[in-house]
Formats: sequence, C-alpha cells, structure tokens
Amino acid sequence: MTSEALQKARDYEERYSAFIKSEDRPVFHLSPRIGWMNDPNGFSLYQGKYHLFYQYHPYSTQWGPMHWGHVISEDMLRWTYLPAAIAPDQEYDKSGCFSGSALELDDGRQLLMYTGVRENRAEDGTRKAYQTQCMAIGDGLDYEKCGCNPVLDQKDVPHSFSHHDFRDPKMYRRPEGGFACVVGDRTDDGSGAILLYTSDDGMNWRFVTILDRSYNEYGKMWECPDFFALDGSHVLLTSPQDMSQVGLEFHNGNGTVCLIGSFDAKAHRFERRRLQAIDYGIDFYAPQTLLTQDGRRVMIAWMQNWDTAVAYPADTKWFGQMTLPRELHVRDGRLLQNPIRELDALHGRRVAYENVPVGEEAYLRGVYGRVLDMTVTLRPQQNKPYELFRLKFAKGSQHYSDIVYDPKTSILRISRTHSGCTRDFVHERECFVRDRGGELKLRLILDRFSAEVFVNDGEQALSMTLYTPMTANGISFEARGGVLMGVEKYDIIV
Ligand code: FRU
Repeated sequence: MTSEALQKARDYEERYSAFIKSEDRPVFHLSPRIGWMNDPNGFSLYQGKYHLFYQYHPYSTQWGPMHWGHVISEDMLRWTYLPAAIAPDQEYDKSGCFSGSALELDDGRQLLMYTGVRENRAEDGTRKAYQTQCMAIGDGLDYEKCGCNPVLDQKDVPHSFSHHDFRDPKMYRRPEGGFACVVGDRTDDGSGAILLYTSDDGMNWRFVTILDRSYNEYGKMWECPDFFALDGSHVLLTSPQDMSQVGLEFHNGNGTVCLIGSFDAKAHRFERRRLQAIDYGIDFYAPQTLLTQDGRRVMIAWMQNWDTAVAYPADTKWFGQMTLPRELHVRDGRLLQNPIRELDALHGRRVAYENVPVGEEAYLRGVYGRVLDMTVTLRPQQNKPYELFRLKFAKGSQHYSDIVYDPKTSILRISRTHSGCTRDFVHERECFVRDRGGELKLRLILDRFSAEVFVNDGEQALSMTLYTPMTANGISFEARGGVLMGVEKYDIIV
C-alpha cells in the first residue's frame, strides 16, 4: 500500500520534474529528479540492473524530511528515474528515512535497510532524534515497510554507545553465508565507531563487534560506513564529521576516509593497517559501493560538501549530484580509484596531441568543452626542469577554474576561486602527489556543473562542483620551464 506521504511525493515529482530541461542538468552524473539530493543509498544490482536510491527532499532544493529517490541503469551513467521509493510515514521514521542499503534476497525480492529517525521535542523545547534501523521489502518499484520494524534499536548498541547517532546501515552478503551490516555510531568518548551486525535471514540481526573507532583522532561521528574485501585486503569506508586538519590532509570538515587492513571473519576482528583520505577535492561525501557481476568494486558518492551545499543558481529546481562511479583497487596498501570503464563507451569525437611544448598560456585546436573526458600527460624536457604547470578549464572572458602543479613541492592544487561562485567559502584544495621526476598524468572529467580529476591512474581523485555559465568552455595550458605535454580529449555523448 502506498502511503499518503509517498503518493504525495510521487505526484509532486511526476508533475514538477517535467519543468526541468535536460540541458540544465549534468549529462552523465546523476542529479535528483527534483529538489534536494544527498547521500547515495542502496547502490546495488537487482535482477540484472543497477539500482541507486538517494537521500531526497523533493519539495525544495534544501534538506528536509528525507525520502528515498530511486533510479535504475544498465551502465551506471545513464539513469532512468523511478517513483520515490519510501517516505517518512511511520511513527518510527516520521522525521526521516535516512541513509541505508539494498540487496537482492534469494526469493527475488529486494530488501532495503535504512535508518528511521523519530524526533521528539522535550518539555524544555530541546529536540532529540532517536535513530533505529528499519527494513522495507519490494519488487524494484514498490516497497512495504516491515511489520517487525525497527530491527535494530537502543538495545542493540554496546553499553553507553548512542542511539541518537546510530545510522546508515550498509548490508552485504557474507562469503560464509547469511548477511552482515555495518552501522555508524557515536561512542561514549563523543567520537565515531563502526558496529558490525550479522543475520541469517536479513530480518533478525545481532550485534557482533565494534569494527573500528575514531578515539577522537579522525573526526567525531562516523557516518555512512561500507565494508568489503578488495585485492586481498579488507576496506572500511566511512565519512567522519568534524575532522581536524593534518598538513594537507582532512580539510573538508566532514571528510571521507578508507581504512585498509585485514579481517579475521572467524574472530570478527578488523585490523587497520592504513588510513587514507578518499578524495582531495572540495565536494565528496558519503561514498557507497557495489560489486558488479564481473567482480568490480564500484564506488559512488555525493559530489557535495555539507558546508558548501548552500550555493547554487537561484532559479535551479534541483540540487545535489553524484560523482562518477569509480572502480576501486588496493595496490601497495593504497586505494586506487578510476572512472568506471563504461564511460569509454560514451566517448565521442577524439582530439589528440603529442609532445606539445608548453610555455605562455595557449589553447589547442579542438580542445574545449564542458562535457568531456581528457587525459593530459606531462614530461619534463631534458636538462630543463619546469617550475609550474597550469590548466585552466570552464574558462570564459570573466571566469575560470584551474589545476596547478608544482613539481618542486609535488603539490597539486584545484581551484574554483574564479568560477563565478557568489559565496565566500572554500574554493580550493591542495594535495601531495607521488613525485615521478616531474612526470604527471591527469585525467579531467567535466560534466557541465562538475570537475573530477584522477591523478596518475587513480592514485588521487579530486572532485568539485562548479556553476560557471556554460558559455565558459575554454581550456588553456601554460607552464614555466620546459615541459612536453600529451593531450587526448573525448567529448562525451549520451
Ligand atoms: C550523511 C548523513 C547521514 C544521514 C543522512 C541524512 O550525509 O548525515 O548520516 O543518514 O545524511 O540525510
């Protein structure tokens, strides 16, 4: 039975999304059908198709009582909107259906697990939110919330852990049979932890262990966990709130990290060997992964930062984008991420140059646009080291964004300071890249309102949104010193 709240959302999105023109949206990055979108939810394969749900407030371009929006795709790039999947319509989720996950049950039904939020106002006027984990079951289109909800509540968190900050369950199938899920929680020291639960049937869950925790070292509440095996290691993803900066690391306020280590499935023990920031750009949060049929681990994230989610063109009817889905690997103990290979199938016209000497700011014939996939390779000229390389993009008479590399310090910077944003908040980030004697490979992907940069075949990724007018579509190159450049640029056609 479709509740009144869900029907209202479905009617609203059906009616008003028709007014959003496709040329006002990103081309191959997901934007909400209408209104506001944050975290990816339920990113999974179901009956041979990719499903993606998202935190959704259809009625405005601001965060509000959370619904789940819903899309499907065959390539994770071209998405079809389906009606909103769930709405806050029960006592236990009356304040919002927060983030969660999905999987296909053996009987062919689709299982959703999400955080139900119930906010109560105390006599003194303060508000307290209670967060529990809840289930809904459906056929890929319509979902019924389970009578047994909530399936995890206050009694299922370790003693003195929080049931006010207890959210974002990510389910997966255990290789040894049955199911598991990881859930974010706030511990008694005020910082985050990831809790592990298991289940035989996906309905009855039991607490198993604390997989890892912050101890106030890596941010406060740990949101949106994910946990999977990859290339012989185990990887735990989480999005810690309120991170403190360390050198060039962790500058996003609410950041994202991956913890790479090993997992002893019998003893339920995760041993962390390394912690790595996931993205070094401005806009990236709450990543979630799926496993494709051919065994690739693919991650997608909200391409936004909570602190910068206030600036967008006034007349827009949608807000929030997902990143490009990225294939993950662990090599030499580090996470690598590259755009999914499905993107290659959308390559249109190719323009390529080799061994171009770069000096004063210059343009290359055929190299421009705002919807493209471009790889730039830099090689220092012998006996003539270069000092600085700069690539400007989304460039018009008044605006540009840029990527600057300084081989002396190995620092790469991405900036949208001159992109035309009329709000004064962070517009640039820097990160160290691996020094290869001045050699550098940058893959820049533009999709109207965003730029994603993949460095040295995925050693780093930097993502940011930008709302520069589309007429600003120039790309220029400049360098100080001797550098030879290769460029291969494809337009993207959907
Ligand atoms: C992360 C988050 C989640 C929560 C959701 C609410 O961005 O705060 O922890 O489930 O957003 O929309």
